[in-house]
Amino acid sequence: MLKGLWRRRVKLIEADLVKELRRTESLDENLMRAMEYSLMAGGKRLRPVLLMAAADTINGAGEKFITVADALEMIHTYSLIHDDLPAMDNDDYRRGKLTNHKVFGEATAILAGDALLTLAFEVVLRQKDVAPEILLAVLHEISSAAGMAGMVGGQAIDLRSEGVRIDLATLKRMHLGKTGALFKAAIRSGALLAQAPAEKLDALTHYAEAFGLAFQITDDILDVTGNAAVLGKPTGSDEKNHKSTYVSLTSLNEAERLAAEAVDDALNALKVFGSEADFLRELVQYLVARQR
Ligand code: IPE
Ligand code: IPE
Ligand code: MG
Ligand code: MG
Ligand code: MG
Repeated sequence: MLKGLWRRRVKLIEADLVKELRRTESLDENLMRAMEYSLMAGGKRLRPVLLMAAADTINGAGEKFITVADALEMIHTYSLIHDDLPAMDNDDYRRGKLTNHKVFGEATAILAGDALLTLAFEVVLRQKDVAPEILLAVLHEISSAAGMAGMVGGQAIDLRSEGVRIDLATLKRMHLGKTGALFKAAIRSGALLAQAPAEKLDALTHYAEAFGLAFQITDDILDVTGNAAVLGKPTGSDEKNHKSTYVSLTSLNEAERLAAEAVDDALNALKVFGSEADFLRELVQYLVARQR
């Protein structure tokens, strides 16, 4: 069930993403090309897939919310373009292709990221058949997750922690910010759009936090053990930049154990659900065993 549904939804999302991107006229064609280059370079499309899967657990209608799902992928893609810049992780490959700044230059890469971030909010407002008060709650969810209280804040901790020793609690906070926040926004947005009752919204929120942690610990592990061709991005990037990661602060074994613990937490959080949450169960287990 996992792979089939995932693949089908990736196709849907990718077709819709390019449509939503091109619906806004860009004053500069080269900027639009740079945005499309990274947005359509592939990727697992996890955040939109999670938004839909969370909504499915409530009313089975996840695909209805594809427009908000697209917006999350735009924000994620912007974060990757900026993350790869020379001033940040200085990486040359992403999603199996040269990074945005390698192809378009740093200035255009910065602007392509800026434009994807702002377009995302325009795109949320295009979502059809959702009451305005629900869309406002979703906008609040996404805007706070993307900023200093979430992804950008986590990235700031990440950069400040290069070459210095931080404690595990700080590392966890960094992971929950730089990676967990957008996953949480995706899942909570799906739940809010489907009008989840409080108890289920809480359960999905706990799942999302544990999922984000398991996911970024695995990303840290793959930076050491992975295959760059399969990953589509370089390995050894964290060591090169003297990053604080679960592997550098503990060990490979301990990082694997902590990822497995986070998976258990995620599964426990789903106890209030029946088979309607099987996709979410399978997904978190699959992602700690993944190769890309
Ligand atoms: C990579 O995210 C950056 C992190 C937050 C670890 P993904 O592993 O979801 O990247 P894509 O979207 O599949 O390329
Ligand atoms: C980045 O974490 C998380 C983002 C907000 C983009 P990493 O720097 O570890 O992500 P990768 O390994 O380059 O994908
Ligand atoms: Mg980084
Ligand atoms: Mg990076
Ligand atoms: Mg990484």
